[in-house]
Amino acid sequence: MDPVLNIDRLTLEFPIYGGAVRALDAVSITVRPGEIVGVVGESGCGKSVTAMTTLRLIPDDRYRVIGGSITLLGVDMLSAGEKALATIRGARASMIFQEPLTALNPTRRVGDQMVEVIRAHQRISAAAATARATRLLSEMRIADAAEVLRRYPFELSGGMRQRVVIALAFANDPAIVIADEPTTALDVTVQRQVLLLLRQRSRDVGAAVLLITHDMGVVSEYTERVYVMYAGRVVESGPTAAVLGDPAHPYTRALLAGLPGSVAPKAVLQSIPGRVPDLRRVPDGCAFAPRCGQAMACCRQAPPLVAIPSPDGPVPRFAACWLPAAEAAS
Ligand SMILES: Nc1ncnc2c1ncn2[C@@H]1O[C@H](COP(=O)(O)OP(=O)(O)O)[C@@H](O)[C@H]1O
Ligand SMILES: [Mg+2]
Repeated sequence: MDPVLNIDRLTLEFPIYGGAVRALDAVSITVRPGEIVGVVGESGCGKSVTAMTTLRLIPDDRYRVIGGSITLLGVDMLSAGEKALATIRGARASMIFQEPLTALNPTRRVGDQMVEVIRAHQRISAAAATARATRLLSEMRIADAAEVLRRYPFELSGGMRQRVVIALAFANDPAIVIADEPTTALDVTVQRQVLLLLRQRSRDVGAAVLLITHDMGVVSEYTERVYVMYAGRVVESGPTAAVLGDPAHPYTRALLAGLPGSVAPKAVLQSIPGRVPDLRRVPDGCAFAPRCGQAMACCRQAPPLVAIPSPDGPVPRFAACWLPAAEAAS
């Protein structure tokens, strides 16, 4: 089956005064139909830029593509015209942001907004669209759907708003939903309800989800495969169970160290010392080396993302680190 999304060695910069921010460096991410794929990393690692460029939501004059491609549902997103983009956005591919109020117009009733989104992509009557909106809310376990449709966004709780946003993301039978930290702004208990609903909806309709988060607990619970990003690069990827059960990259181990019952070695601190480098001046070599307890002389050279041997199955694993090879040799 063709992937729904294939980001291939995407390298992207933001021009800034006196230089450039290399926000993405040879990032490759593939999502197959129906898969829930995680992207994880600390703040500033390039997760949102990845999500935004996938739907080409960043104004064209604000960034420069240095290389690579994005193929979304067979469309070459970097060269697509406005018409193709409008067809794809909000229909076959939709996006959920961290803050539900960015997706909802505060001055209009929830129902009017939902009907508008539905009718932008489906030729149906207003009454049929209202019926669809009601059903979409019920599918998000909103009991009083008709009442919620009459409300304004500010009249809903944060969790309820995000349910409305997810209902909207599924309004036009998407093949993929890109969710950028969809529950980071919510309380832990509400977070869980919302993520369970997101997963249930994606399973019900067979939509793939690219689930972006800084939280390894979320990755562990809700994703099948994962990409770990650091300083604009993918540093490790593979099936979630394999990567979290036996992380190859010290950065992945460090992200896992805070999780209860995690397998990370005790040597790794609870919080990772240091911080994500300023992307205007990413150090030569491995960008994580300055924070890595296991850095070696060879880390002054950037490690390529290479396949690492994995006994656990057919889905390949990759890591950008010199350690696996060094460990295998010793
Ligand atoms: N429009 C922009 N202009 C300049 N730098 C940007 C812009 N958008 C994002 N960046 C930079 O790109 C890097 C990655 O950002 P982002 O994708 O938002 O990280 P994350 O979502 O992982 O927290 C950050 O260093 C950020 O400052
Ligand atoms: Mg972000």
